[in-house]
Amino acid sequence: MRMPLIAGNWKMNGSLALVEEFGQAFADVSLPVNVEVALMVPFPFLDAAGRALGETSVTVGAQTLSDRPSGAFTGEVSAAMLRECGTRLVLVGHSERRTLFGEDDAAVLARVKAALSERLTPVLCIGETLEEREAERTESVVLGQLESVLDALAPAERARLVIAYEPVWAIGTGRTASPEQAQAVHAAIRERLARYEQALADGMRLLYGGSMKADNAAELLAQPDIDGGLVGGASLKVDDFLAICQSAG
Ligand code: G3H
Repeated sequence: MRMPLIAGNWKMNGSLALVEEFGQAFADVSLPVNVEVALMVPFPFLDAAGRALGETSVTVGAQTLSDRPSGAFTGEVSAAMLRECGTRLVLVGHSERRTLFGEDDAAVLARVKAALSERLTPVLCIGETLEEREAERTESVVLGQLESVLDALAPAERARLVIAYEPVWAIGTGRTASPEQAQAVHAAIRERLARYEQALADGMRLLYGGSMKADNAAELLAQPDIDGGLVGGASLKVDDFLAICQSAG
């Protein structure tokens, strides 16, 4: 059985006050015991989030990392620094990093390796643009992004990843993939994982991301190959995010 994971990605949003609000809210509710919850906050809030959520079961995560271990790389944050701040998960290859910050497959792979070297769980994000979907290239794009990382890892390293499928056209647009559309791509991803090893396919958690909200989460999460969500906008509202976490239980 794969434990569902609901990961909130605040992107460049939020505040210390919101960190506190989440800390209090999550301390007051009981989450389903069979659901893992994570919150990916901006770097400056990692420490405060770790303290505010420390008494809860919520894991704190980061949104990106450097591919270098240390050195003269102004503005960068290393995997070891994240680890030292209590971070356990880190997003890698989010579509905004790929499109706005020029991270190609090689850059994504380097960051996955950096995360693994510090025992962080990389949440590898993959997904197609609208143009690619309309050109019927969804599977080749998504599976290409997946293979460019998996082919370069040892079997034991592959098993430490989480995969997030995020159709770029559904991110922040209010336009969610239908459960059937999302399931079809998740099934294709799992089938491709099975080519590496059946146990990898059976154990890998595949998250869906792209306008997941309190009112559509249950339907998406009910799909057999969707094991959780990567939630952007709705993770900034504590009630909405809690409702999504509850619907995964
Ligand atoms: O990381 C989260 C995704 O980019 C989804 O964002 O829920 O605002 O569409 P969204």
